[in-house]
Amino acid sequence: MNHKKIEAKSAVMGVMVAILVSIGGIVEIVPLYTVQEQIVKIDDVKPYRPLELEGRDIYIREGCYTCHSQAVRPFRDETERYGPYSKAGEYVYDRPFQWGSKRTGPDLHRDGGKNKDSWHYLHFKNPRDTSPGSIMPNYPWLYENKLDTSLTVQKMTVLAKLGTPYSESDLDPEKVERRLKQDAERLAARIKTDLGEEVPSDTEVIALIAYMQKLGKDIKWRD
Ligand code: HEC
Repeated sequence: MNHKKIEAKSAVMGVMVAILVSIGGIVEIVPLYTVQEQIVKIDDVKPYRPLELEGRDIYIREGCYTCHSQAVRPFRDETERYGPYSKAGEYVYDRPFQWGSKRTGPDLHRDGGKNKDSWHYLHFKNPRDTSPGSIMPNYPWLYENKLDTSLTVQKMTVLAKLGTPYSESDLDPEKVERRLKQDAERLAARIKTDLGEEVPSDTEVIALIAYMQKLGKDIKWRD
């Protein structure tokens, strides 16, 4: 075979490879655009309330996902330890989802309602007070930092644009502020009752606890 022929052959091969890769690409990519319809929607799963949403952002900021996953797998040892395995429809309002890939600590997807608010309040201050021998770090600044709510409405508006079903009234700045404040005050009052000490309602730890208590609880499974 002379050089010309070899060149012509490689050109044909090149075109064929390009065609095959394109077909492969289409086959992989097109279903992703219709994936919305493949996720079974669970009606009980509700969008985050303003306080929970802010708590979730603190969870991300503090890197809690570097030690905690949020995905109970469908195996007996997991479901007996944590509760019902996680369903895709439970993450539809999580942007981005917090599945994580590291389990230095326990999975948190079914943590909502497992411990009392006051337990979390003591735990984040010094995990060893509630869980002897724990290697989880202390988070003292969450008790000092005031919760920044200046962007809550904007965050919810962006989520609404991406498909989270917040109504127009849900996005009303006065209503957002009222709901957030009310939720925070109720939560702080419950902790105060348990611990018998003053508990400010406007700190970051309150939002983080609200988020913890929402986790995996939309489907009813705890008695
Ligand atoms: C260095 C790893 C590490 C980091 C970072 C970490 N944790 Fe933990 N976490 C643990 C370990 C280990 C436990 C189990 C012992 C305990 O209860 O403290 C735990 C337990 C917990 C529990 C109790 C779970 C249960 O039901 O028993 C919660 C809730 C929790 N972590 C939330 C968080 C949050 C929120 C953050 C971020 C602010 C965080 N953790 C950061 C390691 C970590």
